[in-house]
Amino acid sequence: MSTRVYDKKIDINNEDTKSFWLNRACGEVSLRTVLLGVDKAPEAQDKRNKKEADILNNIISDFSELKILDIGCGIGRWADNLKDKLDFYTGIDYSKGFIEYAKNRFASNNKIEFYEMSACDIDKIEFSKEYNLIICTGVLMYINDEDISRIFQAFKRISPEYVYIQESISLMDGRLTLDNFKSKALKANYSAIYRTKAEYEEYYKQNGFRVLKTDLLLDDETGGRKETNAQYWILKG
Ligand SMILES: C[S@@+](CC[C@H](N)C(=O)[O-])C[C@H]1O[C@@H](n2cnc3c(N)ncnc32)[C@H](O)[C@@H]1O
Repeated sequence: MSTRVYDKKIDINNEDTKSFWLNRACGEVSLRTVLLGVDKAPEAQDKRNKKEADILNNIISDFSELKILDIGCGIGRWADNLKDKLDFYTGIDYSKGFIEYAKNRFASNNKIEFYEMSACDIDKIEFSKEYNLIICTGVLMYINDEDISRIFQAFKRISPEYVYIQESISLMDGRLTLDNFKSKALKANYSAIYRTKAEYEEYYKQNGFRVLKTDLLLDDETGGRKETNAQYWILKG
């Protein structure tokens, strides 16, 4: 059964979601593979990426060092966007294909590393480096509530100066969950949780992160919809 569930808090199936991302790495890999608006013109994802890169470039303009941990890094979009400014960058993702692709692309850059790993396990390991910026873009919607709490506790322990989050949200009063939804555009069954802005901000508050700046990211051309959009937040740790 394919379902859209409004308001109610239900879990999505982690294994199905992981399979979706493993499969996506099997075909052609590009920005459109990780930034999902497949029904939009190809240039839409470049525009969206450029807009986000400008936002992040503003944050880091006064950093003396840039040490990034990118959670759910996909094909290494942020390594690409920031490669000339990095001191070092660690990207983690549970999609084996994306990590292999990213590793190959940056094989000659010794400041950039990638690991195959679930975001839900970051509270179980000690990172050997210290990071001043955590980036997590387009990932939390694939993770259930209980795991999100643990992830934010781990962020607190890693203790970055800033966290940059970007996530698809519900613009309605309550969340929308796509639970094994049969997506024609994606040609796959798809699960994701569109939480409200307020729900995310409660996680930040509970874990001692202050919102410095937040706004919606998408317009009609880049994928904004009536019920959903993407929100970004710059958090101070
Ligand atoms: C929409 S893509 C965004 C990729 C990248 N953050 C970007 O902005 O280009 C979502 C990514 O999250 C990854 N992902 C989803 N759930 C994850 C989890 N629990 N642990 C690690 N990676 C996860 C997927 O494999 C995929 O690469």
